Amino acid sequence: ASEQTYIMIKPDGVQRGLVAAILGRFETRGFQIVGMKMLTPTKELASSHYGEHEGKPFFGGLVDFLSSGPVVGVVLQGKGVVAAARMMLGATKPLESAPGTIRGDFAIDMGRNVMHASDSVDSATREIGLWFKKEEVVSWTSCA
Ligand code: CMP
Repeated sequence: ASEQTYIMIKPDGVQRGLVAAILGRFETRGFQIVGMKMLTPTKELASSHYGEHEGKPFFGGLVDFLSSGPVVGVVLQGKGVVAAARMMLGATKPLESAPGTIRGDFAIDMGRNVMHASDSVDSATREIGLWFKKEEVVSWTSCA
């Protein structure tokens, strides 16, 4: 059965003009875009998104950064897409992300790390529900 995940180009990725390059990797691999929107997140939305990090020393900076400018939020669909998107994203620690991954190719900074991807099926369900209304996630059949 097909799976869905939530990925998001963060403000630094949008400002650097990386939206198409990043989404293109997922499209050409065969994952389907079934939801997509651009918005500048409120601090409230950014705090909910990063709820699991509340109380950590970097939480305030994380929320401020995510709400500092427009992001592109995407629901991706396909077999094993949750784990695959994390693998394509690369490690959170910038200098441990392998070349060929998105962070390994585009980022050297822990905070300005270009993109987010849900870390589990449960997180994906929660994050899709947080960023999208039900009717904003579409259904279509891929020819791939
Ligand atoms: P992301 O994968 O979007 O989810 C959590 C974010 O917290 C992560 O990207 C980093 O940007 C940030 N983060 C995680 N650990 C640290 C840390 N030790 N110091 C600063 N930022 C961090």
